[in-house]
Parts: sequence; structure tokens; C-alpha cells
Amino acid sequence: MNILILLACLYGWAYAQSNLECGISKYPDAGSGGSGNPSEHIVGGIISRRHEFPWTVLMNWRSGNNFQQNCGGTLIDNRWVISARHCVYANDPPTDYQLWLKTNVRTDPNGNRAEDGVMYVPELIVRHPEYDSNSYENDLVMFKLPQNVTFDDDLRPACLPPLNDATNWTGTIVTHSGWGNTERNGPATPEQRYTNMQVINYDTCWLETLPDAIGSEERTLCVRGNGTDAGDGDSGGPHVTKVDGRWTLIGVQSWGYWPAGVRPSMINKVSAALPWINEVRANN
Ligand SMILES: *[C@@H]1O[C@H](CO)[C@@H](O)[C@H](O)[C@H]1NC(C)=O
Ligand SMILES: *[C@@H]1O[C@H](CO)[C@@H](O)[C@H](O)[C@H]1NC(C)=O
Ligand SMILES: *[C@@H]1O[C@H](CO)[C@@H](O)[C@H](O)[C@H]1NC(C)=O
Repeated sequence: MNILILLACLYGWAYAQSNLECGISKYPDAGSGGSGNPSEHIVGGIISRRHEFPWTVLMNWRSGNNFQQNCGGTLIDNRWVISARHCVYANDPPTDYQLWLKTNVRTDPNGNRAEDGVMYVPELIVRHPEYDSNSYENDLVMFKLPQNVTFDDDLRPACLPPLNDATNWTGTIVTHSGWGNTERNGPATPEQRYTNMQVINYDTCWLETLPDAIGSEERTLCVRGNGTDAGDGDSGGPHVTKVDGRWTLIGVQSWGYWPAGVRPSMINKVSAALPWINEVRANN
């Protein structure tokens, strides 16, 4: 009995400790630069301050002998990164990917070296088994890092929403960061950028995206900026908002339209995916 209580206390303590690390930016006013310049689409033209969003991960994939930036991701604890399923092929090995943590500027033209940051080749890729490549419902993938990472002011996970979270996010302002292109067919940006967007009503979104299929209301959130948006290469990246003072990952970028910032962008709702996320972390 005593041992059980002790274990329970230790577990509670460890859980609280890991939780205390999440969702903190060393900039108290992180994300407050506004939404950016609508003429520079993507992530609207605001260059992030160094490690302003310490959970944002740069993802490269193999193209022949080179690696190039293809997506973003989010650090969710000391071992796991979540991104979008469409950022990986069905069967390619973990060694075809690179995850760059603590990175702000992506300087190498071949994309296989970042100016700063630490590169990890994931040891495992877990693809969401119910990914729907038509509607992009469950467009999620998880990468296990080869070792635990140590948090500091420049590297922290985003908080996850609580299990069975029933928040109606409509109207919430979310901050999206990444290295995607700032114009159609343009190159990825060297510097990480961010923009703020707003969650819009699902029914409105459904109408505005016809005749395309979008994921179910249960698993999908739609966001829109004032002329700003995610660009190609921002897929998989975080949409965070402050909940009780902590930056919390409410969505993972999935898909949108060009021209950016007119029609909504679709993101996969993290609260609905939590049972899967927790199962993956527990079983691997
Ligand atoms: C890695 O982190 C997990 C979760 O905090 C912990 O349970 C595990 O013991 C750590 N592993 C190592 C090798 O430190
Ligand atoms: C969420 O709130 C908006 C209004 O802010 C409302 O239109 C919408 O129906 C609500 N969604 C749900 C699922 O309750
Ligand atoms: C866009 O502008 C409208 C009207 O001014 C405002 O209500 C909304 O919050 C803005 N969206 C963002 C993401 O700032």
C-alpha cells in the first residue's frame, strides 16, 4: 500500500514536472507581432525572434543524396514530434527524414544543414492508421527521437490540450510558425516566420471549401488569417494558443488553398487525436 502510494506520488510528481516545462516561450509577448503583411502570404511575413516558439521543428526529407525542407512539426514532450501524415510516404524509412530542433534560420541551400539547432534522425515513424488522403482527416504522423532531449529556454514542448477537451475554439486566435514559402511556387523562407489566424465556424468552412471534402467537425478545425496563411512547406507545423498562460497545441497544419489567406486552412484537431497520441507514446 505504501509503495503504491509512493509510486503514485512519484508518477504525479514526474507528470507535473514534465508539464511544468511545456508551453513556455522566453518571450512573454511571443506571437504578439500581429499577423504580418498580407502580401507575403504564408506565415504572413513576421520573422520569429530566436527560439520564440521553442517547440517548432523543421523537417527535411531525402531527395536523392540531399535533404530539403518539406514540412514543420511540433515537439510535444522530451521524445516525440508530431507532424502531418502527408509529409511522409507510406513506407519510407526514418533515415529519409531529419528533424531540426532549436533551429531558427535554415541557411544551407541544399537544406541538409541548418545554421543553428540540433539535428536528429528519428528512430521511429508512426503514421496515423486512419489517415484519409481525400479529406485529410487524421493527417497526423509521430516521430520518435533517438534520445530524450533536455529542455531549456530555447527548447520546450508545446502543451497538449486535456483529454476529452470540449472547448469550442471558434473565434480563438492561433499562432502558426514555420519555414514554408511566402508565395506560390516560391522557395521556403530561410528564417522561421509566424502569423496569427483565427478559428472559424466549421459550417462556414464546409461551405467555403465546397466541392472539396474536409475532415469531420469532430477532428478538424478551420483557420483563416487576414490575408495571411500557411504556405507550402508549413504542413505539419503547430497552431498554438495560450491556455492558462501556456502555449497549447490545438492543431496541426494540414492543407489550404492558393491564393493564401482567402479561403480557410484546415488543421487537424489535437484534442481529438489525443487517445492515439497517448497510445503511440505508451506503446513505443
Ligand atoms: C526518457 O524520458 C522518459 C520520460 O520522461 C523517462 O521515463 C525515461 O526514463 C528517460 N530515458 C532516459 C534514458 O533517460
Ligand atoms: C461554437 O461557437 C460558435 C459561435 O462562436 C457557434 O456558431 C458554433 O455552432 C459552436 N460550435 C459548436 C460545435 O457548438
Ligand atoms: C481579422 O480581422 C477581423 C476584423 O478586424 C478581426 O475580427 C480578426 O480577429 C482578425 N483576425 C486575426 C487573425 O487577427
